[in-house]
Amino acid sequence: MTLYDAIFERHSVRKYENKPVEPEKAAVLQAKIDEINEKTGLSFSLCLDEPEAFMANKPSYGSFAGCRNYFVLAAGKGRDEDIGYYGEELVLLSQTLGLNTCWVALTFEKNKVPVTLKDGEKIYDVVALGYGQNQGVPHKSKPTEKLYRAKGELPDWFMKGMEAAALAPTAINQQRFIISYDKGKVSAKALLGPCSKTDLGIVKYHFELGAGKDNFVWEEK
Ligand SMILES: Cc1cc2nc3c(=O)[nH]c(=O)nc-3n(C[C@H](O)[C@H](O)[C@H](O)COP(=O)(O)O)c2cc1C
Repeated sequence: MTLYDAIFERHSVRKYENKPVEPEKAAVLQAKIDEINEKTGLSFSLCLDEPEAFMANKPSYGSFAGCRNYFVLAAGKGRDEDIGYYGEELVLLSQTLGLNTCWVALTFEKNKVPVTLKDGEKIYDVVALGYGQNQGVPHKSKPTEKLYRAKGELPDWFMKGMEAAALAPTAINQQRFIISYDKGKVSAKALLGPCSKTDLGIVKYHFELGAGKDNFVWEEK
């Protein structure tokens, strides 16, 4: 399974089997984390067999059950979009390894996460990880026409990018983003909403995989 294929397979999963992540798979994920941290200055980490953050003294918390593994996505201030972009790389990589995930901004216990942050860093999100009791379900999406604005004739690659963007996970499934095409120039903007800047990074990562990175560069908005 490629990262692109994973876009179509991935859905948020909140109930997990009591089955550990194999050391070989954990090593692949850790290597990607090390590469991302090195390249970007983000502070991502992988917590394995650490049920506390999803327990709140009960076997299930929020709508989560059995979650014992997660990625911690931490960084200094103002890195929301990068958190989304690189976090989604880990999400889709996990899916290619047959693992399920769910982005989590709220429904976990931040003070139970066993990581030491550097000065000025904070935990933006965690991503639940493991073998799901199910594979999740496709989310309801806005019609694709509501997610982009276009001037001029649209190339096929743009529409493939939009298809991938519409499948991106967003907080509360809000899809508060707009991708614009203006005679070959592509840009993306977050609309107002909780976590919408993180969502934008996730959406851009999906769009690139769908459209093909060689076909365009992002214009600043
Ligand atoms: C930045 C972000 C934060 C999220 N926070 C939570 C959360 O706190 N609790 C939760 O149950 N789901 C959370 N989600 C999962 C979304 O509800 C889910 O991605 C969305 O409904 C779309 O469904 P899908 O991921 O199955 O496509 C979050 C998603 C994102 C992208």
